[in-house]
Amino acid sequence: MTKMKAVGLYQYLPITDPESLQDVEIPKPEPKGSDLLVRVMAISVNPVDTKIRSPKERVEKEPRILGWDVAGIVEETGPDTSLFKKGDQVFYAGSVARPGANSEYHLVDERIVGRKPEILSYSEAAALPLTSLTAWEALFDRLGIPETGNVNTNLLVIGAAGGVGSIAIQLAKRAGLTVIGTASRTESTQWIKDRGADHVINHYEEFVPQLKQIGLEGVDYILCLNRTDMHWDNMAKAINPQGKICSIYETNEKLNLFPLFNKSVTFVWELMFTRSLFGTPDMIKQHEILNKISDMVDSRILQTTVNEVLSPINAENVRKAHAMLEEGKTIGKIVIEGF
Ligand SMILES: NC(=O)c1ccc[n+]([C@@H]2O[C@H](COP(=O)([O-])OP(=O)(O)OC[C@H]3O[C@@H](n4cnc5c(N)ncnc54)[C@H](OP(=O)(O)O)[C@@H]3O)[C@@H](O)[C@H]2O)c1
Repeated sequence: MTKMKAVGLYQYLPITDPESLQDVEIPKPEPKGSDLLVRVMAISVNPVDTKIRSPKERVEKEPRILGWDVAGIVEETGPDTSLFKKGDQVFYAGSVARPGANSEYHLVDERIVGRKPEILSYSEAAALPLTSLTAWEALFDRLGIPETGNVNTNLLVIGAAGGVGSIAIQLAKRAGLTVIGTASRTESTQWIKDRGADHVINHYEEFVPQLKQIGLEGVDYILCLNRTDMHWDNMAKAINPQGKICSIYETNEKLNLFPLFNKSVTFVWELMFTRSLFGTPDMIKQHEILNKISDMVDSRILQTTVNEVLSPINAENVRKAHAMLEEGKTIGKIVIEGF
């Protein structure tokens, strides 16, 4: 059996423990059905990795492989594939129900894979898939915002300097919205402005007085990318009558929908893994979204959101990236390239 390099875990440990993520060798998989076998050139690290790795009692018999953001090259195709061929350059997030991509080769269903933007390097491309899918689905599928032509309509993006926010701002600006981003530091404020946000307010202060200062009574849409529980009351106050709120940040706290009643406000969740987790009939929409993202990058409508590149892909660098993410202050994306 051919083996390949990977970064995996047996135990769920604090990231300061060198055993929390280890260099391992695992069997190289073979593509079946609608799977592609992809040679992984670069990966990016997301909070989903650190959340899954977070300390708990469980012990794995086989190493568990994390990593759901990839740019790579199709090495082999399964018998039922039709969208890609050997040698194609691709990017994708994959499915959280399957092993992640922190390995030399990775299996993924072709229906959730897109064509890598031609003008980007592998590391620049790896920054995009998971966050672009999340931002696209949140804005256009869940909030139902038209993809273009929005005038006199505004959007508040909470936690806008992170991975998802950095691409959400660009997609929303391209859709014609006025975008207000939130940040709490000078560096993150500047990053949001550079991505195209019209205004920046602070997520640790009341939203309504800050919106008034920029001439707004409220906002039509809110995209909450952080601490839904903490921002709930502020969002309920800031949303306009008949407005819509989407959150991507899960919480076990009970959320009180009543403050949204008088204003007939819609609240909706977005989970980027829903389509792949449930194999929904429209799963191929992620292939289409990624191809649209790719076209927009190649047309220079969207920019990569990479801010830091580590190399090579090994346990030491993946641990380093997890530690950075766990601080909660990431600006843009952290990418790791090459085995
Ligand atoms: N549902 C889904 O499909 C989905 C998909 C992707 C991500 N997520 C989740 O969404 C969250 C954001 O992901 P990401 O990749 O954008 O994260 P990230 O890159 O780690 O976000 C970092 C940013 O969060 C901001 N931030 C920190 N604390 C905040 C707070 N209390 N309120 C508002 N902003 C705060 C920071 O801004 P300042 O430094 O300026 O404070 C920093 O720039 C994560 O929890 C992730 O698991 C969900």
